[in-house]
Amino acid sequence: MTATAPKMMTFGPAGESDRRSQLARLMRNSPIPDRELMLNAGLYLTPQTLSRVLFMDFLYRQILEVQGVVLEFGCRWGQNMSLYTSLRGIYEPFNRLRRVIGFDTFSGFVSVATEDGKCVEAGDYATAPGYEQHLEQVLAMQEEESPLPHLRKFEIVKGDATKTFPEFLARNPQTIVALAYFDFDLFEPTRDCLKELLPYLTKGSVIGFDEINDDTTPGETVALREVIGLGRYAIKHYRHSARTSYLVVE
Ligand SMILES: C[S@@+](CC[C@H](N)C(=O)[O-])C[C@H]1O[C@@H](n2cnc3c(N)ncnc32)[C@H](O)[C@@H]1O
Repeated sequence: MTATAPKMMTFGPAGESDRRSQLARLMRNSPIPDRELMLNAGLYLTPQTLSRVLFMDFLYRQILEVQGVVLEFGCRWGQNMSLYTSLRGIYEPFNRLRRVIGFDTFSGFVSVATEDGKCVEAGDYATAPGYEQHLEQVLAMQEEESPLPHLRKFEIVKGDATKTFPEFLARNPQTIVALAYFDFDLFEPTRDCLKELLPYLTKGSVIGFDEINDDTTPGETVALREVIGLGRYAIKHYRHSARTSYLVVE
């Protein structure tokens, strides 16, 4: 499956995008044999990507003593779901209840609101058609790399999360959320899912955010301010990943 090139925002200097494309081509055409390619995936990681991996590791380590599942709101290509799956395998290989659930339309933004400013529009961040099937295969294989491979511990929920998340909660009344990562970039779905999420959090639950305090996607901060407030919990910043934030429920 070849990825389409949907619209997405980048903030790097001139030349960065060309260099990244060149690196991507080197990766696609890598002379490294298949049996060694995965062992050398880090060869192609840029500092920016690695810093996001480190952030996911940091977040995951915060919830090791907290009961509950891991949710990603806006999983897109699914890298974070894959990382959480591997991190579970590393830190708590027998925690069959630490399910990883990702929500996305897989067709990009449904709509944008005035709170979202001028940089985003409906359809941004679409994936390739049918991508969720590819993601399902990748996650199933990742799960086989760790103990308890016979138990399915991830779920991909396709559709508008303002509808699918309440439906998911109705289907899963046992839900406690240890970690929720918000990466919709948008006001309305962030607001609606945050509201739904609150009764399912416990002390120590962590909420991560991709775009807080970011003027290109103001809607995420507006949603946080509206639903939780900015003064109730410290909005923390992980020092090795510039854009991302998190809070811990106290
Ligand atoms: C910036 S991308 C997510 C990137 C991904 N988390 C990562 O780390 O690579 C934002 C995603 O949110 C999804 N999204 C936005 N609004 C949504 C909604 N109402 N329901 C489901 N997904 C939505 C988009 O389809 C898109 O894939």
